[in-house]
Amino acid sequence: MGVYQIIEEPDEVLRAKALPVNNINAGVIRVLDNMRDTLYAFDGVGLAAPQIGVSKRIIVVDPGDQYIELINPEIIEADGEQVGREGCLSVPNLWGTVKRANRVVVRGLNREAEPVEYEATELLARAFQHEIDHLDGVLFIDKASDLRRGKD
Ligand code: CO
Repeated sequence: MGVYQIIEEPDEVLRAKALPVNNINAGVIRVLDNMRDTLYAFDGVGLAAPQIGVSKRIIVVDPGDQYIELINPEIIEADGEQVGREGCLSVPNLWGTVKRANRVVVRGLNREAEPVEYEATELLARAFQHEIDHLDGVLFIDKASDLRRGKD
């Protein structure tokens, strides 16, 4: 069990373009395990590796009913539109309204280095887009309107 400290904005690791994982070695597996522990410890919907100071293309998400981890995730299809409130563990106590695609198809690798693909809508689609943005140094506050303290 390992819970990381969450890196908070402003920090340059959150603004860097994270590097692809070339080799899923024991270090990457340990990062995945600790990201899962950290996600649940902070009751998050998703977490990207830069948020724990690791500038690699790794995300974990759980919209409430399904835990997914992805290495080198890519959005290969996006359509529709959803508008909703969003927050981020790296931007504590701030929420904003963000427009996202309503449906995405995301491709990546699982921890066994097997290619996997997920089709997602609504909250899971939002989580994928938010976490993959983190890998490109983009935070939800860059896209949000009506930023304020308070979820609603
Ligand atoms: Co975030």
